[in-house]
Amino acid sequence: MSEEVVLYSVDSSIATITINRPKKYNALNSEVVKSLHEAFNKAEDDQDVRVIILTGAGEKAFAAGADIGEFQDKDGNTVLPLAENGQNLCKFIESMSKPVIAAVNGFALGGGCEIAMACDIRYASTNARFGQPEINLGIIPGFGGTVRLPRIVGMGIAKELVYTGDQIKAEEALRIGLINRMFVSVEELMEGTKQLATNLAAKPGVAIRLAKESLNNAFEMTLEKNLEFEVRQFSAVFNTEDKQEGVDAFLAKREPSFKHK
Ligand code: COA
Repeated sequence: MSEEVVLYSVDSSIATITINRPKKYNALNSEVVKSLHEAFNKAEDDQDVRVIILTGAGEKAFAAGADIGEFQDKDGNTVLPLAENGQNLCKFIESMSKPVIAAVNGFALGGGCEIAMACDIRYASTNARFGQPEINLGIIPGFGGTVRLPRIVGMGIAKELVYTGDQIKAEEALRIGLINRMFVSVEELMEGTKQLATNLAAKPGVAIRLAKESLNNAFEMTLEKNLEFEVRQFSAVFNTEDKQEGVDAFLAKREPSFKHK
Protein backbone atom coordinates (compact mmCIF):
# COMPACT_ATOMS: atom_id res chain seq x y z
CA MET A 1 0.00 0.00 0.00
CA SER A 2 1.36 3.45 -0.85
CA GLU A 3 2.05 5.80 2.06
CA GLU A 4 -0.38 8.59 2.90
CA VAL A 5 0.88 11.94 1.58
CA VAL A 6 -0.82 13.78 4.46
CA LEU A 7 -0.94 12.45 8.01
CA TYR A 8 -3.67 13.40 10.47
CA SER A 9 -3.82 12.83 14.21
CA VAL A 10 -5.69 14.32 17.16
CA ASP A 11 -4.45 14.50 20.74
CA SER A 12 -5.90 16.59 23.58
CA SER A 13 -8.07 18.74 21.26
CA ILE A 14 -5.09 19.50 18.98
CA ALA A 15 -5.10 18.15 15.41
CA THR A 16 -1.69 17.74 13.79
CA ILE A 17 -1.60 17.69 9.99
CA THR A 18 1.73 16.59 8.50
CA ILE A 19 2.72 16.88 4.84
CA ASN A 20 4.35 13.51 4.23
CA ARG A 21 6.56 13.42 1.12
CA PRO A 22 9.91 13.89 2.87
CA LYS A 23 11.98 12.47 -0.01
CA LYS A 24 10.55 15.19 -2.25
CA TYR A 25 10.94 17.88 0.43
CA ASN A 26 7.17 17.70 0.92
CA ALA A 27 6.55 19.25 -2.51
CA LEU A 28 2.86 20.02 -2.96
CA ASN A 29 1.56 17.91 -5.82
CA SER A 30 -2.17 17.80 -6.62
CA GLU A 31 -2.69 14.81 -4.36
CA VAL A 32 -1.09 16.61 -1.39
CA VAL A 33 -3.17 19.75 -1.96
CA LYS A 34 -6.38 17.68 -2.15
CA SER A 35 -5.46 15.61 0.91
CA LEU A 36 -4.53 18.74 2.87
CA HIS A 37 -7.92 20.26 2.06
CA GLU A 38 -9.65 17.06 3.25
CA ALA A 39 -7.58 17.01 6.46
CA PHE A 40 -8.37 20.66 7.26
CA ASN A 41 -12.05 19.98 6.53
CA LYS A 42 -11.99 17.10 8.97
CA ALA A 43 -10.37 19.27 11.65
CA GLU A 44 -12.94 22.03 11.09
CA ASP A 45 -15.86 19.58 11.41
CA ASP A 46 -14.52 17.77 14.48
CA GLN A 47 -16.08 19.43 17.54
CA ASP A 48 -13.31 18.00 19.73
CA VAL A 49 -10.58 19.78 17.77
CA ARG A 50 -9.82 23.29 19.03
CA VAL A 51 -6.46 24.05 17.39
CA ILE A 52 -4.61 22.76 14.33
CA ILE A 53 -0.84 22.40 13.83
CA LEU A 54 0.49 22.11 10.28
CA THR A 55 4.01 20.78 9.75
CA GLY A 56 6.18 18.77 7.35
CA ALA A 57 7.59 15.25 7.73
CA GLY A 58 11.35 14.76 7.98
CA GLU A 59 14.10 17.19 8.92
CA LYS A 60 14.55 19.07 5.67
CA ALA A 61 11.32 20.72 4.70
CA PHE A 62 7.96 22.11 5.72
CA ALA A 63 7.17 22.18 1.98
CA ALA A 64 9.55 23.16 -0.85
CA GLY A 65 6.73 24.50 -2.99
CA ALA A 66 4.32 23.26 -5.61
CA ASP A 67 5.55 20.12 -7.35
CA ILE A 68 7.55 21.52 -10.27
CA GLY A 69 7.15 18.20 -12.11
CA GLU A 70 3.47 19.06 -12.61
CA PHE A 71 4.35 22.34 -14.40
CA GLN A 72 6.16 20.85 -17.36
CA ASP A 73 3.19 20.05 -19.60
CA LYS A 74 0.92 22.89 -18.41
CA ASP A 75 -0.01 26.06 -20.28
CA GLY A 76 -1.94 29.14 -19.18
CA ASN A 77 -5.27 27.32 -19.32
CA THR A 78 -4.39 23.89 -18.03
CA VAL A 79 -2.52 25.32 -15.02
CA LEU A 80 -5.59 27.16 -13.70
CA PRO A 81 -7.14 24.30 -11.63
CA LEU A 82 -3.77 23.80 -9.96
CA ALA A 83 -3.55 27.44 -8.81
CA GLU A 84 -7.25 27.55 -7.91
CA ASN A 85 -6.98 24.43 -5.76
CA GLY A 86 -3.93 25.87 -3.98
CA GLN A 87 -5.66 29.20 -3.43
CA ASN A 88 -8.85 27.49 -2.23
CA LEU A 89 -6.85 25.48 0.29
CA CYS A 90 -5.19 28.66 1.60
CA LYS A 91 -8.54 30.50 1.77
CA PHE A 92 -10.07 27.57 3.64
CA ILE A 93 -7.26 27.51 6.22
CA GLU A 94 -7.57 31.26 6.72
CA SER A 95 -11.34 31.10 7.11
CA MET A 96 -11.41 28.21 9.58
CA SER A 97 -13.16 28.86 12.87
CA LYS A 98 -10.15 27.51 14.80
CA PRO A 99 -6.57 28.78 15.07
CA VAL A 100 -4.03 27.16 12.75
CA ILE A 101 -0.32 27.21 13.66
CA ALA A 102 2.39 26.48 11.08
CA ALA A 103 5.41 24.71 12.61
CA VAL A 104 8.02 25.37 9.92
CA ASN A 105 10.79 22.79 10.29
CA GLY A 106 12.87 23.42 7.14
CA PHE A 107 12.29 24.81 3.65
CA ALA A 108 9.05 26.78 3.23
CA LEU A 109 9.38 27.88 -0.37
CA GLY A 110 6.80 28.91 -2.96
CA GLY A 111 3.51 27.19 -2.14
CA GLY A 112 5.03 26.05 1.18
CA CYS A 113 5.58 29.65 2.21
CA GLU A 114 2.13 30.57 0.86
CA ILE A 115 0.35 27.88 2.89
CA ALA A 116 2.32 28.92 6.00
CA MET A 117 1.16 32.52 5.39
CA ALA A 118 -2.48 31.38 5.33
CA CYS A 119 -2.02 29.99 8.85
CA ASP A 120 -2.75 32.28 11.80
CA ILE A 121 0.64 31.98 13.49
CA ARG A 122 4.04 30.82 12.21
CA TYR A 123 6.71 29.29 14.46
CA ALA A 124 9.97 28.05 12.93
CA SER A 125 13.24 26.29 13.75
CA THR A 126 16.60 27.92 12.95
CA ASN A 127 17.05 25.62 9.92
CA ALA A 128 13.87 27.00 8.29
CA ARG A 129 14.28 28.83 4.99
CA PHE A 130 11.59 30.99 3.45
CA GLY A 131 11.14 32.37 -0.02
CA GLN A 132 9.07 32.81 -3.14
CA PRO A 133 11.55 31.40 -5.72
CA GLU A 134 9.03 31.17 -8.59
CA ILE A 135 10.75 33.97 -10.55
CA ASN A 136 13.72 31.63 -11.06
CA LEU A 137 11.40 29.23 -12.91
CA GLY A 138 10.12 32.06 -15.09
CA ILE A 139 6.80 32.19 -13.23
CA ILE A 140 5.18 34.00 -10.28
CA PRO A 141 3.52 32.88 -7.00
CA GLY A 142 0.04 31.45 -7.55
CA PHE A 143 -1.24 30.29 -4.15
CA GLY A 144 -1.72 33.87 -2.88
CA GLY A 145 1.92 34.87 -2.30
CA THR A 146 1.72 38.26 -4.00
CA VAL A 147 -1.33 39.07 -1.88
CA ARG A 148 -0.54 37.72 1.59
CA LEU A 149 3.22 38.42 1.69
CA PRO A 150 2.87 42.24 1.48
CA ARG A 151 0.10 42.13 4.09
CA ILE A 152 2.44 40.35 6.50
CA VAL A 153 5.85 41.94 5.82
CA GLY A 154 5.03 45.15 3.91
CA MET A 155 5.16 45.90 0.18
CA GLY A 156 8.86 46.81 -0.17
CA ILE A 157 10.17 43.59 1.37
CA ALA A 158 7.52 41.52 -0.44
CA LYS A 159 8.58 42.96 -3.80
CA GLU A 160 12.24 42.26 -3.08
CA LEU A 161 11.49 38.65 -2.12
CA VAL A 162 9.21 38.01 -5.11
CA TYR A 163 11.45 39.78 -7.69
CA THR A 164 14.72 38.18 -6.51
CA GLY A 165 13.35 34.76 -5.55
CA ASP A 166 15.97 34.74 -2.78
CA GLN A 167 15.67 32.48 0.23
CA ILE A 168 15.85 34.03 3.68
CA LYS A 169 16.91 32.38 6.93
CA ALA A 170 14.69 32.02 9.97
CA GLU A 171 16.47 34.93 11.75
CA GLU A 172 15.58 37.25 8.86
CA ALA A 173 12.02 35.88 8.71
CA LEU A 174 11.71 36.71 12.41
CA ARG A 175 13.13 40.21 11.88
CA ILE A 176 10.63 41.05 9.11
CA GLY A 177 7.68 39.55 10.97
CA LEU A 178 7.11 36.59 8.67
CA ILE A 179 7.40 34.29 11.69
CA ASN A 180 6.31 34.92 15.26
CA ARG A 181 9.00 32.89 17.05
CA MET A 182 12.18 30.95 16.30
CA PHE A 183 13.45 27.83 18.10
CA VAL A 184 16.97 26.41 18.19
CA SER A 185 15.96 22.92 17.07
CA VAL A 186 13.07 21.08 15.43
CA GLU A 187 12.38 19.32 18.77
CA GLU A 188 12.08 22.67 20.56
CA LEU A 189 9.96 24.01 17.72
CA MET A 190 7.48 21.15 18.09
CA GLU A 191 7.48 21.51 21.89
CA GLY A 192 6.93 25.28 21.68
CA THR A 193 4.20 24.84 19.07
CA LYS A 194 2.44 22.28 21.25
CA GLN A 195 2.58 24.63 24.23
CA LEU A 196 0.99 27.42 22.21
CA ALA A 197 -1.65 25.02 20.85
CA THR A 198 -2.46 23.79 24.37
CA ASN A 199 -2.73 27.37 25.57
CA LEU A 200 -5.09 28.32 22.69
CA ALA A 201 -7.17 25.14 23.08
CA ALA A 202 -8.16 26.27 26.59
CA LYS A 203 -9.32 29.72 25.41
CA PRO A 204 -13.03 30.31 24.76
CA GLY A 205 -13.58 28.89 21.26
CA VAL A 206 -16.39 31.21 20.18
CA ALA A 207 -14.40 34.30 21.21
CA ILE A 208 -11.37 32.98 19.26
CA ARG A 209 -13.57 32.48 16.17
CA LEU A 210 -15.14 35.94 16.41
CA ALA A 211 -11.73 37.57 16.97
CA LYS A 212 -10.25 35.69 14.01
CA GLU A 213 -13.08 36.82 11.73
CA SER A 214 -12.57 40.42 12.80
CA LEU A 215 -8.77 40.24 12.39
CA ASN A 216 -9.16 38.59 8.96
CA ASN A 217 -11.40 41.47 7.93
CA ALA A 218 -8.90 44.13 9.03
CA PHE A 219 -7.35 44.46 5.57
CA GLU A 220 -10.52 43.79 3.58
CA MET A 221 -12.75 46.84 4.03
CA THR A 222 -12.63 50.46 5.11
CA LEU A 223 -11.70 51.46 8.66
CA GLU A 224 -15.32 52.45 9.29
CA LYS A 225 -16.71 49.11 8.06
CA ASN A 226 -14.06 47.16 10.00
CA LEU A 227 -14.97 48.98 13.21
CA GLU A 228 -18.69 48.33 12.63
CA PHE A 229 -17.86 44.67 12.05
CA GLU A 230 -15.84 44.51 15.27
CA VAL A 231 -18.72 45.99 17.27
CA ARG A 232 -21.07 43.33 15.88
CA GLN A 233 -18.60 40.58 16.83
CA PHE A 234 -18.12 42.18 20.26
CA SER A 235 -21.87 42.22 20.76
CA ALA A 236 -22.19 38.58 19.61
CA VAL A 237 -19.53 37.39 22.04
CA PHE A 238 -21.54 38.90 24.93
CA ASN A 239 -24.26 36.31 24.25
CA THR A 240 -21.93 33.38 24.93
CA GLU A 241 -21.82 31.28 28.10
CA ASP A 242 -18.04 31.69 28.08
CA LYS A 243 -18.36 35.47 28.44
CA GLN A 244 -20.39 34.95 31.62
CA GLU A 245 -17.91 32.37 32.89
CA GLY A 246 -14.87 34.56 32.08
CA VAL A 247 -16.27 37.66 33.76
CA ASP A 248 -17.69 35.75 36.76
CA ALA A 249 -14.39 33.91 37.25
CA PHE A 250 -12.39 37.15 37.18
CA LEU A 251 -14.67 38.82 39.73
CA ALA A 252 -14.65 35.72 41.97
CA LYS A 253 -10.83 35.60 41.70
CA ARG A 254 -10.81 32.04 40.27
CA GLU A 255 -9.62 30.45 37.02
CA PRO A 256 -12.29 30.33 34.27
CA SER A 257 -13.40 27.01 32.80
CA PHE A 258 -14.56 27.66 29.24
CA LYS A 259 -17.09 25.43 27.46
CA HIS A 260 -16.66 26.96 23.98
CA LYS A 261 -20.32 27.95 23.92
N1 COA B 1 8.92 20.16 -6.74
C1 COA B 1 9.28 18.89 -7.03
N2 COA B 1 10.32 18.27 -6.45
C2 COA B 1 11.02 18.95 -5.53
C3 COA B 1 10.72 20.28 -5.18
C4 COA B 1 9.60 20.89 -5.82
N3 COA B 1 9.19 22.12 -5.53
N4 COA B 1 11.59 20.71 -4.24
C5 COA B 1 12.42 19.67 -4.01
N5 COA B 1 12.09 18.62 -4.78
C6 COA B 1 12.73 17.30 -4.84
C7 COA B 1 13.98 17.30 -5.70
O1 COA B 1 13.67 17.13 -7.07
C8 COA B 1 14.72 16.11 -5.12
O2 COA B 1 14.13 14.91 -5.61
P1 COA B 1 15.07 13.69 -6.17
O3 COA B 1 15.89 13.30 -4.95
O4 COA B 1 14.08 12.66 -6.60
O5 COA B 1 15.91 14.27 -7.26
C9 COA B 1 14.40 16.18 -3.63
O6 COA B 1 13.18 16.94 -3.55
C10 COA B 1 15.45 16.89 -2.83
O7 COA B 1 15.73 18.13 -3.45
P2 COA B 1 17.22 18.61 -3.85
O8 COA B 1 17.09 19.71 -4.83
O9 COA B 1 18.04 17.43 -4.26
O10 COA B 1 17.73 19.10 -2.43
P3 COA B 1 18.74 20.32 -2.11
O11 COA B 1 18.97 20.24 -0.64
O12 COA B 1 19.90 20.31 -3.03
O13 COA B 1 17.87 21.65 -2.43
C11 COA B 1 15.89 23.05 -2.40
C12 COA B 1 16.70 21.92 -1.72
C13 COA B 1 14.58 23.19 -1.67
C14 COA B 1 16.69 24.36 -2.34
C15 COA B 1 15.68 22.68 -3.89
O14 COA B 1 15.10 21.38 -3.94
C16 COA B 1 14.75 23.61 -4.62
O15 COA B 1 15.18 24.68 -5.04
N6 COA B 1 13.46 23.23 -4.80
C17 COA B 1 12.50 23.97 -5.56
C18 COA B 1 12.00 25.17 -4.79
C19 COA B 1 11.04 25.97 -5.64
O16 COA B 1 11.38 26.54 -6.65
N7 COA B 1 9.77 26.03 -5.18
C20 COA B 1 8.74 26.78 -5.81
C21 COA B 1 8.01 25.95 -6.78
S1 COA B 1 6.75 26.90 -7.57
